[in-house]
Amino acid sequence: MKVVMVGAGYVGLVSGACFAEFGTDVVVVDVAAEKIEALKQGRMPIYERGLEKLVGDNVADGRLTFTTDLEAAVAGADAVFLAVGTPTRRGDGHADLSYVYAAAEQVAKAAQGPLVIVTKSTVPVGTGREVQKIVRRVRPDLEIDVASNPEFLREGNAIGDFMRPDRVVIGVDSDRALNVLKRLYRPLYLIETPIVATSIESAELIKYASNAFLAVKITFINQMADLCEKAGADVHDVARGMGLDGRIGRKFLHPGPGYGGSCFPKDTLALARSAQELGAPVTIVEETIAANEARKAAMADRVIAACGGSVAGKTVAVLGLTFKPETDDMRDAPSLVVVPKLIEAGAKIRGYDPQPHYAKQVLPQEVFFAETALEAAQEADAVVLLTEWNEFRALPPRKLKAAMKGSVAVDLRNAWEPAAMRECGFSYSSIGRI
Ligand SMILES: NC(=O)c1ccc[n+]([C@@H]2O[C@H](COP(=O)([O-])OP(=O)(O)OC[C@H]3O[C@@H](n4cnc5c(N)ncnc54)[C@H](O)[C@@H]3O)[C@@H](O)[C@H]2O)c1
Repeated sequence: MKVVMVGAGYVGLVSGACFAEFGTDVVVVDVAAEKIEALKQGRMPIYERGLEKLVGDNVADGRLTFTTDLEAAVAGADAVFLAVGTPTRRGDGHADLSYVYAAAEQVAKAAQGPLVIVTKSTVPVGTGREVQKIVRRVRPDLEIDVASNPEFLREGNAIGDFMRPDRVVIGVDSDRALNVLKRLYRPLYLIETPIVATSIESAELIKYASNAFLAVKITFINQMADLCEKAGADVHDVARGMGLDGRIGRKFLHPGPGYGGSCFPKDTLALARSAQELGAPVTIVEETIAANEARKAAMADRVIAACGGSVAGKTVAVLGLTFKPETDDMRDAPSLVVVPKLIEAGAKIRGYDPQPHYAKQVLPQEVFFAETALEAAQEADAVVLLTEWNEFRALPPRKLKAAMKGSVAVDLRNAWEPAAMRECGFSYSSIGRI
């Protein structure tokens, strides 16, 4: 089989490489010529564990190629996946579908025979029908099916998630599209991955409903953490006691500075907007969005309070800037709210992240980027742990303390051991525990 992946981003590149690993011929197409050029030279445009080797192996085996030439790529393809961005549209919170629609039109124009256009991008319910209309308008002469195959991989564990997913969701309205997708996912079917075949509308909603549910769960435990602080309880005990209930589950009950990243913020907004328009508002998601925004800003206030009510003229070391560990992605990262607020309040920021490539492009210019965590801590009055990379967990508190001028530690991920931090002389605070 031959597959085209339109978009060489976090989803397109990983999915393309994984399909190639399954034994399929894959061409990954992107309009960003510099990305394609880098990939042709064996350089990854993003950081994702294991990706360089997976791509290298499949390129070497001749199953994976990269191009900017969509027309040539589409020739002879059985399926073309759209894995382009669906960012928040300016002004109204809706998903910006212009990249999806443009890509669908380009693919339809380039098609030479029957094929399936599969939306892998996260899109609001109804998008697949619009794609169908575009395709029928552009190519009434061809049998082009449209399908929805939302992606659930998590950055930081993307390859593992693609290769061993909890489920594969396939939204179709023709047997031909279903059969093509089933053949492509056969290696997962063989390891007994549940394949959920639904209508296109249901598949689109499964993705938004899943992300919104997880965002609600995170926000719930974040608010429980605030309550624990007031009540003198420990949120980890509460989360464990709750999570052992099989109906609740233990995952996503870890408190923090508010969710960020390339999916939850924009997907919750887009779901809320399309639900309002369809006349069935999901108010619980609207509340979650507002609570999460307020939480990110409140994290800067926590740091200021821990520093005695002011950070003016103080140096704050911020460890971890990406939205989560094991990625370089900065989209909607809590650091984008916390760091500017601290700078506005007069702090000097010494930041460190193991993957600072995009952080350097999007954080304020005043931020000094250190090469190591201990270098960031040098002469700092306070240290803030914002993203829980493993190397921060392993950082000996005594060494951290010795590098600093002051003794304030604000752990927004509960990654450090309170007793060990206090023993080393830190004035230590964390989330939802005394
Ligand atoms: N990042 C994640 O963890 C994740 C997980 C699941 C689903 N998703 C969804 O997958 C989609 C893609 O996300 P991403 O993080 O990979 O985005 P991304 O911004 O990293 O990549 C999108 C790529 O598409 C390219 N592109 C845009 N228009 C194009 C066109 N007409 N032809 C060829 N290339 C084009 C862009 O240049 C870019 O490289 C989004 O809808 C997102 O919500 C993302």
